Amino acid sequence: MITLPAELRHALDTMTARHHEQDLARAAIQLTARYRQPIHEPALRSAADVAAYAATRMPATYAAVTAALTQAATCVPDLQPVTQLDVGGGTGAAIWAATTIWPSLRHITVIEREPAVIEFGRHLAVSASHPAVRNAMWRRSEIRTDLSRPPADLVTLSYVLGELPPAVRDPVVRWLAEHARMVAVIEPGTPGGHARVLAARDQLISLGMRIAAPCPHSASCPLSGGDWCHFSARLPRSGLHRRLKSAELGFEDEKFSYVIATSGSAVLPGSRVLRHPRTRKGLVTLTLCADGVREENVSKRQRDVYRAARNVAWGDPWL
Ligand SMILES: C[S@@+](CC[C@H](N)C(=O)[O-])C[C@H]1O[C@@H](n2cnc3c(N)ncnc32)[C@H](O)[C@@H]1O
Repeated sequence: MITLPAELRHALDTMTARHHEQDLARAAIQLTARYRQPIHEPALRSAADVAAYAATRMPATYAAVTAALTQAATCVPDLQPVTQLDVGGGTGAAIWAATTIWPSLRHITVIEREPAVIEFGRHLAVSASHPAVRNAMWRRSEIRTDLSRPPADLVTLSYVLGELPPAVRDPVVRWLAEHARMVAVIEPGTPGGHARVLAARDQLISLGMRIAAPCPHSASCPLSGGDWCHFSARLPRSGLHRRLKSAELGFEDEKFSYVIATSGSAVLPGSRVLRHPRTRKGLVTLTLCADGVREENVSKRQRDVYRAARNVAWGDPWL
């Protein structure tokens, strides 16, 4: 379960409590409808839109980015980023997530187009215990490849690529990679999100970067025939979230697709678990991505490997 840092949870609750719940509920419904359009008009128009986004989506995007960057940190253990550029940063999910994984971060720049979003993100950031989040520089701008940008060890683009016109996505990814030691692109875990991540992956490889996660190689993606890959991060639902989304369960599973590329070296696992492991009596079946996709049966007779297989989860590295 990936939970928000306590100070972020508290700040979010305080800021969303400034709005009537009916307004938030209305805004949440409209947001969902707008996000279902393939390319939508700016979704976060009013203060209520932003508060509804922060209440219903930010904890989930935080969880997805945290899960992706956790894998990145495992595969690129010598990276201790000092600078981060978060593009289309929204209310700041990816900067909170990155500083949880890498306390080494010192200087953060967020690029975001919508003033109401920046205002909300800044207010949340004031309560951060990490100074890099508290002192983050929020730049109001359209994402453009001719935009001057500070060099950054870590560049994050979380749940943004699908909002950009298709023609600019590849140039934007190439622009993000300039001088970066690591680029993280995270998208919703849908066939469309996966396709955008794959296209970003191709761009990053063509620039000479190595894929650090989730793929255990930088060769072509072995998935074919309409198959696609995504992962899942579990997070608790707040009471407000349950009410706004008319949900009953006390948790939600955020599905996401992602790619992490590095300009340095990566320590890659032999394979990665692509689906929930299936456990039957004395047998664990893993669907693995290596240089191809394969099923592996691990039986009780394999003792230590079997024990490891029982503990491994969807999205984890495997032997
Ligand atoms: C779905 S939100 C994701 C926010 C955040 N990265 C997260 O993971 O929660 C997309 C954000 O990108 C911003 N955005 C979309 N297109 C943009 C553009 N062309 N220039 C600048 N910001 C943009 C939106 O205003 C919004 O805040």
